[in-house]
Amino acid sequence: MELKQSENIVWHDTSISYQDRIQLNKHQGLVLWFTGLSGSGKSTIANEVERMLYLEQCHTYLLDGDNIRHGLNRDLGFSDQDREENIRRIGEVAKLFADAGMIALSSFISPFTADRQLARHCCSPLTFIEIFIDTPISICESRDPKGLYKKARAGEIQSFTGISSPYEAPVAPEIHVKTANLTIEDAAKQIINYLRDNHYI
Ligand code: ADX
Repeated sequence: MELKQSENIVWHDTSISYQDRIQLNKHQGLVLWFTGLSGSGKSTIANEVERMLYLEQCHTYLLDGDNIRHGLNRDLGFSDQDREENIRRIGEVAKLFADAGMIALSSFISPFTADRQLARHCCSPLTFIEIFIDTPISICESRDPKGLYKKARAGEIQSFTGISSPYEAPVAPEIHVKTANLTIEDAAKQIINYLRDNHYI
């Protein structure tokens, strides 16, 4: 995709700062970046984490792959290049939410290490917590909640992550959730415990 640089633009400082916003919110802004295969449970776990954070009076917003692809990223498909642009935009959006003093939960396959690193870099100096939802592809495929693995195996969907397009698993995520023997609630609690132990909430 050709990116046209805007010209003659000047950054404006605002009267209300990030520090003002987090003082009001009583917690800092964060990016919780969920990554994992389709059907791994990313969105379900992120949803449960958001529910638990809400009960703790935290200000949150969940950015979800399927939803964002209906709006902001409706012009993007699943080529490597489009996935890169998908993650680049989401990195920028997550940064805006975190800078607004919120806990942004982003749930995208985000299969490429370089793209996740770019998202982390984009959000810096705000805290970026990579959460690997580690579910073996055999389990994702047996669940197949949207019937997409079946279609991918039948060759009806091209470039399907884990089948005909790679997934580069994180090597050093801040949180590694091995879901095989966990309930949704236990997986969410592992994440909440990490946030508590590190005094983010
Ligand atoms: S990402 O790779 O660019 O991060 P994203 O998380 O936005 O993907 O979207 C993934 C969702 O799109 C999947 O959960 C699935 O429902 C749907 N999807 C449709 N086609 C594909 C495909 N070729 N590969 C992976 N997911 C797909």
